Amino acid sequence: MLQQLETHYDEALKALETITDDEALHEWEIRTLGRRGVVTEMLRSTGQLPAEERASFGKRANEIKNLLTEAHAQREEAIRTAALARDLEEGEIDISLPGRTQPAGGLHPETQTLREFYHIWGEMGFQVFRSRDVETDEYNFQLLNFPPHHPARDMQDTFYTTQPDVILRTQTSPGQIRAMEALGDNGTKPIRVILPGMCYRYEQITARSEVQFYQVEGLAVGRNIRMTDLKGTVAEFARRMFGENAQVRYRASYFPFTEPSMEVDVECFLCGGEGCRVCKYAGWLEIAGSGMVHPNVLRNGGYDPSVWSGFAFGMGPGRSTMLKHGINDIRYLWSNDLRFLEQF
Ligand code: DAH
Repeated sequence: MLQQLETHYDEALKALETITDDEALHEWEIRTLGRRGVVTEMLRSTGQLPAEERASFGKRANEIKNLLTEAHAQREEAIRTAALARDLEEGEIDISLPGRTQPAGGLHPETQTLREFYHIWGEMGFQVFRSRDVETDEYNFQLLNFPPHHPARDMQDTFYTTQPDVILRTQTSPGQIRAMEALGDNGTKPIRVILPGMCYRYEQITARSEVQFYQVEGLAVGRNIRMTDLKGTVAEFARRMFGENAQVRYRASYFPFTEPSMEVDVECFLCGGEGCRVCKYAGWLEIAGSGMVHPNVLRNGGYDPSVWSGFAFGMGPGRSTMLKHGINDIRYLWSNDLRFLEQF
């Protein structure tokens, strides 16, 4: 019987070597190691042997069972490796195929404009000062020289909160007072900052007006700051933003917190001043409100207006963005429509 066992073992091993696919391997496994398999049958017949032969036969049979189990595992692995190599060679898996690209996000067109603003103003020595979105009536209006019933308040319909006198800022101008308080050191230090941020107005949403929009405020406070400094500074900004030959003009205007006040126009960069749809055939585009900081405002910020002076300006990056890309409806900016956003 021992002889028979060794023969089965040899035959099984030889058979295994010729196997190259899973199906044949499985059949071999059943035939050899399965419940009715030859090795199992041999083990089962141990009991029929004379007592003195049983131990050594059983030991060898178990050994062979283990050896064949291991040989089976090796064969299985070899078949898998060969199949993979074949797949690669036959091109079922094309390893040279590029992976799927993930869609990359982009910067909102207005964010791009804001960054351009930061870059230019930064080069001109203006640091970014962040002020709060939620303001008080005092900072948003009173300290900026709007008394409680001043008619200029009508220009800005305000979002009120349930807290008395707590509002959403209607302009970035209250940041002027905050910057003077934070950086002025009780009216003893000069200031040169821009204040970018979201503003909120309780208005009917139309193609031309939104309830939220960005402003970029500017403030310079020093000992000898004059109107010519303001004019030169905004003209230089316009050249850096719209090109070396950008022409600017100034129009007298009114704001409660500046005196004198002026509006700044830049020659339409689309038609070069000839008149087109973008500039509404005026040849000029308004880019900023500005002026010399009102003495009351300097005082409210802790400065002595007989010694200190300053200029301020307010710009709308949303408007610049619309002009630059020919966007004719402001509602696109905050609608989050991917078909719109993916164009930039
Ligand atoms: N706060 C003004 C507005 O919302 C814009 C503005 C005008 C800001 C003149 C200024 C300025 O700093 O000097 O309409």
